[in-house]
Amino acid sequence: MADKTKILFVCLGNICRSPAAEGIMQHIVDKRGMSGRIEVDSAGTYGGHAGEPADRRMREAARARGYDLTSRSRKIRMDDFFDFDMIIVMDDSNYDDVHSLAPDIGSTEKIHRMTDLCKTHKVTYVPDPYYGGRNGFENVLDILEDACGRLLEKITEGLD
Ligand code: 4NP
Repeated sequence: MADKTKILFVCLGNICRSPAAEGIMQHIVDKRGMSGRIEVDSAGTYGGHAGEPADRRMREAARARGYDLTSRSRKIRMDDFFDFDMIIVMDDSNYDDVHSLAPDIGSTEKIHRMTDLCKTHKVTYVPDPYYGGRNGFENVLDILEDACGRLLEKITEGLD
């Protein structure tokens, strides 16, 4: 394994789910003093929100749990498949979109589903909260906290 594990979280708009995953993971990494070992970023498959901060509703819900979401939206790019060790998607649509962009077999092997990391939540995707109410944002944070905890364990175990 390389000295540093680089993780890219991907959703559709990169203003709700993947910025929250990035913020939660960064928080956990910092708390464990592992910022020299693990690097996180996020991106979207749709570039329509490029340059925007995370959705205000997502930032406020995350802030209330102690997470600071500071990322700006960007679209996933070809270099990401070479720069990152893991590309973690939120739902099946993200999975298919990222798969279709992957330039080679090695890149497809880097793509994982966030919900496969969950320990307590029995879900198969992280629901898009954009058009819903406050509960949707809280549900996203619950799922992401569960998965990020396991992700850190996997990395410290050596990515088995
Ligand atoms: P996200 O949520 O993929 O979790 O960032 C969305 C944000 C914006 C849109 C869709 C999903 N949109 O269609 O603009």
